[in-house]
Amino acid sequence: MMLVYAKIDSLQEKLTSFKSNISIGFVPTMGALHQGHLSLIEEAKKYNDIVVVSVFVNPTQFDKKEDLDNYPITMDSDLRMLEEIGCDIVFTPTANEMYEDGLKSEHFDFGGIEYEMEGAFREGHFDGVGTVVKRLFEIVKPHNSYFGEKDFQQLQIIKALVKLEQMNIRIVGCPIYRELDGLAMSSRNARLTVAHRKAAPFIRETLLKAKEMFGTENAVTVLQWVTDAFEKHPLLALEYFSIADEKSLKPIVQRIDNHDYRGFVAVMAGEIRLIDNIEL
Ligand code: PAJ
Repeated sequence: MMLVYAKIDSLQEKLTSFKSNISIGFVPTMGALHQGHLSLIEEAKKYNDIVVVSVFVNPTQFDKKEDLDNYPITMDSDLRMLEEIGCDIVFTPTANEMYEDGLKSEHFDFGGIEYEMEGAFREGHFDGVGTVVKRLFEIVKPHNSYFGEKDFQQLQIIKALVKLEQMNIRIVGCPIYRELDGLAMSSRNARLTVAHRKAAPFIRETLLKAKEMFGTENAVTVLQWVTDAFEKHPLLALEYFSIADEKSLKPIVQRIDNHDYRGFVAVMAGEIRLIDNIEL
């Protein structure tokens, strides 16, 4: 039977009742669950005795009020999906429960990666993510925690967070789960208009072509080609495309041997902001 807790105290009472040698796998989410989230939970189930999932739409990581206000909430179907997949414990706190002292973020120094890409375009976003995930880690005390490469920068931020805070938690990155037409699954996809939903696989197609190009062309040529491709597109507006080092997330200046690069993209599809990335 799956247990659902909204209160930190009751969750912790349950967690401390487990023997000390059992391993806890943790998957933090903001709900509106889809197959992408479930793939993280499947991974957690494979390697842990107990799987804990949190469902909490974290206000401090939203830089735009309308994005927070419009964030889909589907708690009933979330709980059904979690029960069906065999999740053991769900944590569904309120904002008051998570932020006793008000909706404030702690400021973190993640060594610079917080200023690139999403950090540059969404002010305060990673301080908000860092604040809530640190708090969730303190509450759940997992051994392993699972994050999607869909939000590759977030994954790197969380790895930096556990180092910075000296938390003994293994952070596991999981591959991007996609729709059949290649669009990366996202809770926000449900808010796309029919026309934008139809257009959205162009993002993945463009990344795949960029990858192919990066094999023979230099980064500047690839950047220009991607920019042009989106400029010509009637429905998708490019916010940024970056070819960056996987570790530093800094845009490539010159290709260096033994460095791994990724292409990162953020696109406005009408009102909806979509992100994706690809290993190059
Ligand atoms: P959310 O967007 O709900 O995503 C929860 C986790 O699911 C994240 O680790 C995200 O990368 C992963 N995920 C989402 N779509 C995915 C896909 N298509 N394939 C693989 N993994 C996918 O990310 C957050 O919530 C929040 O920032 C959170 C970490 C919960 C902190 O509030």
